Amino acid sequence: MTHQEKALSYAKENKEKFLDNLKEVLEIPSVSTDPAHKDDMLKTAEWLVEKLESLGMENIKIYPTPRHPVVYADWLHAKDAPTVLVYGHYDVQPEDPLDEWITPPFKPTQREASLHARGASDMKGQIVATLSAIESIVKNDDFPSNIKFMLEGEEEIGSPSLADFMESHKELLSADFCLNPDAGMLSADTPTITYALRGLAYAELHVTGPSHDLHSGLFGGAVRNPANTLMKLVGGMKDEDGKITLPGFYDKVRDVDAEERAELAKLPVDEALLREQTGSPALWGEKGYSPVEQIGARPTLDVNGMLSGFTGEGAKTVLPAKAMAKISMRLVPDQTPEEVYEQLRQYVKENAPEGVECEVKALHGGNPSISERDGVGVVAMSDAFEAVWGKAPLFKREGGSIPVVGDMQKILGIESVLTGFGLPDDRIHSPNEKLDLPTWYRGIDALIHFFYNLG
Ligand code: BES
Ligand code: ZN
Repeated sequence: MTHQEKALSYAKENKEKFLDNLKEVLEIPSVSTDPAHKDDMLKTAEWLVEKLESLGMENIKIYPTPRHPVVYADWLHAKDAPTVLVYGHYDVQPEDPLDEWITPPFKPTQREASLHARGASDMKGQIVATLSAIESIVKNDDFPSNIKFMLEGEEEIGSPSLADFMESHKELLSADFCLNPDAGMLSADTPTITYALRGLAYAELHVTGPSHDLHSGLFGGAVRNPANTLMKLVGGMKDEDGKITLPGFYDKVRDVDAEERAELAKLPVDEALLREQTGSPALWGEKGYSPVEQIGARPTLDVNGMLSGFTGEGAKTVLPAKAMAKISMRLVPDQTPEEVYEQLRQYVKENAPEGVECEVKALHGGNPSISERDGVGVVAMSDAFEAVWGKAPLFKREGGSIPVVGDMQKILGIESVLTGFGLPDDRIHSPNEKLDLPTWYRGIDALIHFFYNLG
């Protein structure tokens, strides 16, 4: 048996152990946005340290940041082999609404072929898949490439500390490329490599009017209602053709050329599939672009939540003193969050009526990115997919964001191989997030092939 075959058979024999590892880390509620979970963040970092130690990794260290720590480790003894920097985020999104979960979010539960828990797919499952592949190799062999880890706890809040961390640790993090398994697959039988990510600008729009909530009969009709005003402002941000009306919004948007549009048109994603995945009765988006383009290659603007007035059972005749909307804009190259926040402020300035005050608060953002499709890492991953799935991966643009990818290009000068083993119906960020286990196990095998392909 070759070393590679030994590693694959180790992976086969240790499926239960790998799954137990995953369940263990899924039990820690590492919700980065919630200060109440600060200790859980450190606990998760410590869990990772212990695992990295057990794999024989070296220079393991928890680096504190202003919010949540970064875990670093390396093993650099492979001669004449590239150095791969493994990226992961050990934080998760909040679990709410809790009552919609069939089983508790931090009590990983297996139902049929899926493991249900917050973070199972996004992305503790992907981190544990990578660690499991490495374990399968190092139990029988020296590692075939040099490897470094940078595991952060702030991705789900826009990675606010990571750019500074990379700036101040360029030497430590130097590598030939990054393996980033935080992007998913098109379907269980379609291995996928992502080559573009959208960026993000997340803001709150606050509208305030009267000094306190008013009786809507005694005063209604004579003052401006902040809730009505907010809705009108937000309603005007997108026109009937699905175009965003913020001034200058499209100025920096890079066009997709005809060749790429033809390629995107070949992806196995059509209207019917998207209707099924979203449960939405109809699709709607920017005129002149296909849904795949609307999601992957065009920017958008969406309300993520609203707060105003009375929302309890029954009726209360109140004219609210204030209203707030959380608004996220997904960006494409070469838009930047900073410029887009300015455009939002400008729109509000131009459109806000007298009688209310409006304020835009920028929360967090991330740059969009386009990645190289022919680097050594991408080739090694493609070959690995061929070996396990029996077919070459498809290349897609992703509508979601992973801010570190663009930042790494800029700060560390390295490209990322964006892949992963999550599926579109994993309900990431939603109640009942799950991970498809057969796909996850195939992913572990693919990663074993990937590391040997680098050697
Ligand atoms: N893993 C996701 C992004 C993703 C999902 C990429 C599926 C490819 C396929 C990531 O954890 C995520 O959710 N990112 C946030 C980033 C934001 C908070 C800056 C997002 O896109 O909302
Ligand atoms: Zn996420």
